[in-house]
Amino acid sequence: MSHTSDIYRYTNFDSERYATFNRFFSLSAILDHEKQVRKCVLQLCARLEEHRQTNRPVVLGSVFRSLATDVISQYALPEGFNLLSERDLGKDYHNVNRKLSGVAAYNRHLPFIIPTLMVLPTWLVKLAATPGMVQMLNFQSHNRNQARQIVATGKRSDDSVLHGMLNSDLPDSDKTAERIFQEALTLVGAGSETTGSALEHVFYHVLANPAIKARLFADLSEAAQQGDLTSHETLKQIPYLDAVIKEGLRIGNEVSGRLPRYDPHNPITYKGYVFPPGTVISMSIRDMHLDPDYHPEPLTFDPERWLDPSMQKRSEQFFAPFGKGTRSCVGRELAMLEMRMVTAILLHHFKMDLFRTTYDDVRMQHDFFSPFHADGSKGLQVTIT
Ligand code: HEM
Repeated sequence: MSHTSDIYRYTNFDSERYATFNRFFSLSAILDHEKQVRKCVLQLCARLEEHRQTNRPVVLGSVFRSLATDVISQYALPEGFNLLSERDLGKDYHNVNRKLSGVAAYNRHLPFIIPTLMVLPTWLVKLAATPGMVQMLNFQSHNRNQARQIVATGKRSDDSVLHGMLNSDLPDSDKTAERIFQEALTLVGAGSETTGSALEHVFYHVLANPAIKARLFADLSEAAQQGDLTSHETLKQIPYLDAVIKEGLRIGNEVSGRLPRYDPHNPITYKGYVFPPGTVISMSIRDMHLDPDYHPEPLTFDPERWLDPSMQKRSEQFFAPFGKGTRSCVGRELAMLEMRMVTAILLHHFKMDLFRTTYDDVRMQHDFFSPFHADGSKGLQVTIT
């Protein structure tokens, strides 16, 4: 992994498509959307307050996935999913998502599975579906119809990323209703499980380490006296908050699957080996983040790695939770804003304790490209007082 420049190079890169997305996902574009993210986080606080008052434990990992799904779906699609307003806070929806991720993992090797499922009539799927599956299908058909209407009326705006794709310089062949709908849906898929799971890891480790929790709380309280914890301006100035989030991303590895790369035109050199043009190679972020040569005691959650000058440089060099290079994650600024805001507000506002949760409940037991915990585990649960 020391020759990262070769591994990350990728020549088959579509700059027009990237520019279309980047218009929506640059830091300044995301800050324009800050109000909407804050609204979702405050809605999350209101739902958690219900649990606080009734002393009911919360499946926090599932709730974080709902928040992330609501944020990105409101941004990408004409209408957001609004899972945080559901009675079960989106729990069944995420159970379905987990099963579909398992199917997608098999589909990577047997690529006929998903196309076969896709041609099944919706009425037939609904016969065997759980409420979460029906909900997912309804969301999709509603938004697909919206996309058709937007294309049919020729309305041009930047109301959502889907609208923005139509309002861009992409060729007309990329502007069919089905194409822009699928692209927007891909954003929802890419931005939900990843961000929700990252928050689950951050919170598990903070709550399992009283000293880290106390230090973070102290720094958040100090920042809250000088600024507003719901504002990016304040949040970006809390180094310990960023250290905790980075450590959560390092240890959680929200993209656990290998990332394939190939260069159709040039040979790739790696550690003295030369691979001919067109050779598909892949890398694993997880292997790098959990390698003791780069991150000593890799399974220990230690935010100091990101603060201590003697460790920081090496830690940063072998840290790529969002990938690197031209195909790196388009949603990193949005994800960072969400993670900072949720972590700061929840840990400052609520007193949370782990409930029937050990590391075995949150660590990866299945690699479905994203990491999933063991079957039968509820993931991170907390009580709120
Ligand atoms: C903690 C949260 C997140 C993590 C750790 C993460 C990580 C990643 C990684 C590792 C990749 C692959 C990069 C590569 O191939 O080198 C990726 C791609 C991508 N991510 Fe994220 N992501 C996160 C959140 C989001 C969000 C919120 C969005 C919403 C827009 C998003 C949208 C995408 C898209 C569209 C791609 C594909 C880019 C392409 O192939 O050109 N991600 N992400």
